[in-house]
Amino acid sequence: MKGKDFLSISDMADEDITSFMAGAVKLKAQGLPALCDGKTLAILFEKPSLRTRVSFEVAMRQLGGEAIYISPAEVGLGERESVPDVARVLSRYVDIITARTFSHTTVEVLADYASVPVINALSDREHPCQALADFLTIYEKKSKLAGLTLAFIGDGNNIAYSLLLAAALAGMNFHIASPAGYNLKKEMLEVARGYAARSSSKILLTEEPGRAVSGADIVYTDVWASMGQEAESEVRARAFAGYQVDKKLLSQAKADAIFMHDLPAHRGEEVTDDVIDGPQSVVFDQAENRMHAQKALLAKLLGG
Ligand code: CP
Ligand code: NVA
Repeated sequence: MKGKDFLSISDMADEDITSFMAGAVKLKAQGLPALCDGKTLAILFEKPSLRTRVSFEVAMRQLGGEAIYISPAEVGLGERESVPDVARVLSRYVDIITARTFSHTTVEVLADYASVPVINALSDREHPCQALADFLTIYEKKSKLAGLTLAFIGDGNNIAYSLLLAAALAGMNFHIASPAGYNLKKEMLEVARGYAARSSSKILLTEEPGRAVSGADIVYTDVWASMGQEAESEVRARAFAGYQVDKKLLSQAKADAIFMHDLPAHRGEEVTDDVIDGPQSVVFDQAENRMHAQKALLAKLLGG
């Protein structure tokens, strides 16, 4: 890691992502190694969660440590108490913090003021823990990362950005199809283009889903309206109408392509039931791997 924290996939820019995945596979096979014995994780969330919360709690327990969940109403981040003060207080009790925030700035301020490591458990900018689990899943299914092609269909959101960075670092080609106005932001692409030049991978931006999935080993989608964008749901549903991953679109990818989604899914919107429940779907392996990838991450950040 670049520093004590994991706020972005960019924090892994100096690491070999493929080696990290190989380590995570070994840890997954070990089950319950006491790598975080006596350590406590604070889970500080401003938004709802099923996978991230439960996978972090169970991961910490399996590593011999403990986790404390602090709900949005309890802490009132930046309302009941300033973000820097919350960071300073929590650092006196726990060994590591994971935070899910609306604004990415909040998780950055937490990290600045905490003396313990801070993990981004999803912000409006990135979801790096999801990308780690996804790349672990891809590594298990395809036995490599470099040279593959991942096609993301939908919003240029937090999931898309973390996947783009991970792909560019790992030497995986990244295609994204989004309607006009919803693609990844220019400054996000600049960072990724630097990584892609280093790893000799390609980035393709298009408005045509068929073009994005052509030759893809992985077809990935996410919700059209993320948490915090509920008021835009109807406008977005209209903009993304031609961006559903259905059987016809999936059939235009490689014959052995896998289908991925970070979940929760809005079935019938970004994906059809026959795709998400179909033979190419690996969505529940991805969900399980949240726990295994985070175990590797926790052990790493806590010096295990
Ligand atoms: N994929 C994911 O982060 O799920 P949750 O929002 O349920 O944690
Ligand atoms: N893009 C989604 C991901 C949920 C895990 C959101 O931010 O709501």
